[in-house]
Amino acid sequence: MLNFTFQNPTKIHFGEGQIEKITKEIPKDSKVLMVYGGGSIKNNGVYQQVSDALKSHSWQEFSGIDPNPQYDTAMKAVQFIKNKGVDYLLAVGGGSVVDAVKFIAAASLYEGEDPWDILSKGAKVKDALPFGVVLTLPATGSESNNGSVMSKGDDKLFFGSPLTFPKFAVLDPATTLTLSDRQISNGVIDAFVHTMEQYVTYPVNAKIQDRFAEGILHTLIEEGPKALDEKSKNDIDVRANIMWSATMALNNLIGSGVPQDWTTHMIGHELTALHHIDHARTLSIVLPATLKVCREAKREKLIQYGRRIWNLNSANENEIIEQAIAKTEEFFKIMQVPVRLSDVSLGENTIEPVLQKLEQHGFTALGEHQDIDLNVSRKILQTAV
Ligand code: NZQ
Ligand code: ZN
Repeated sequence: MLNFTFQNPTKIHFGEGQIEKITKEIPKDSKVLMVYGGGSIKNNGVYQQVSDALKSHSWQEFSGIDPNPQYDTAMKAVQFIKNKGVDYLLAVGGGSVVDAVKFIAAASLYEGEDPWDILSKGAKVKDALPFGVVLTLPATGSESNNGSVMSKGDDKLFFGSPLTFPKFAVLDPATTLTLSDRQISNGVIDAFVHTMEQYVTYPVNAKIQDRFAEGILHTLIEEGPKALDEKSKNDIDVRANIMWSATMALNNLIGSGVPQDWTTHMIGHELTALHHIDHARTLSIVLPATLKVCREAKREKLIQYGRRIWNLNSANENEIIEQAIAKTEEFFKIMQVPVRLSDVSLGENTIEPVLQKLEQHGFTALGEHQDIDLNVSRKILQTAV
């Protein structure tokens, strides 16, 4: 196992009816800004529950955070905060709202000239407003990690700071019952690929991390299809298991003390920025290709994955690897997400622009061995056509 320091400071309130807990989590004398997206929370009772919980607080709202949150919209919120003296933020929505709030929290107290430098130049976050989360879409893990992904034009970039962990997060699986099938699928696939990026690398004898990761993968494979099935889609336990899987997949726990890949995510972000494909749908296209191209570097973990997740027991290890990747694609298809660029009407001519963006962003040494240069990324994309 590799050395690591683990701290996850976000307090989680999990389960039905837990939104009322925010009353006590947010200091009484705070000037609160509730931040949300395009209005889904007004159709499923979440807005009402949050308003009720905040009735003894002084609060205002800012809506219109876009999926794949945009810098310009976030900066309008920053201006609002400065004008109104807001000192506590509450993100109510999916990963995009949570990510935007992390950036808004940091940008509101940023002393440099242009807060975009936090993403484009890695400028240090020295201070950030405190914030909490009411999560309505299980997918990103953003509700209990410190990362944020923001977009500006055709740049989609990541930042993270110890100051951008949520203070608390409410995870009520009932809030997810209004998700479309597309968003259910996206969430399951995002959590699945987060787990794979931290699990299918090379072995370091980290048994706890491996078995936690395997537990998450098994759960998503079992519960994901149930959330799409008319007979079981309203089962709150199905939603609860998916919701907790997604949080555990990216809250630093399974990634501590193990090598991490993230090639699929980095290539995926460029595809979203250039072609507006949903985040998870870029991952379902790129992951199988990454596993195929990097099969030798990932050999031992691919065999472990095949045996423990897909119960493959062939004596021929190469066969296990082939089948494990095929099973992964099969699962993605069951979850109704694309597995090839051609499934989203893209082809060969997509590849060079993606490579140019990777180069521009300095993503020329990706993967657990930092040996995925632009040539290997090209191969991955060619394999995904
Ligand atoms: O905007 P509203 O009206 O709320 O609608 C949203 C949005 O249109 C809707 N939605 C959310 N909860 C709902 C609901 N509709 C009905 N019922 C509900 N309960 O779903 C749509 C998509 O929401 P979004 O927040 O964009 O989805 P997701 O949670 O998948 O977040 C995606 C973003 O997170 C980033 C992605 O890159 C992308 O920008 N990621 C963040 C990570 C992190 N911070 O750790 C890691 C991930 O790898 C990922 O990169
Ligand atoms: Zn992701």
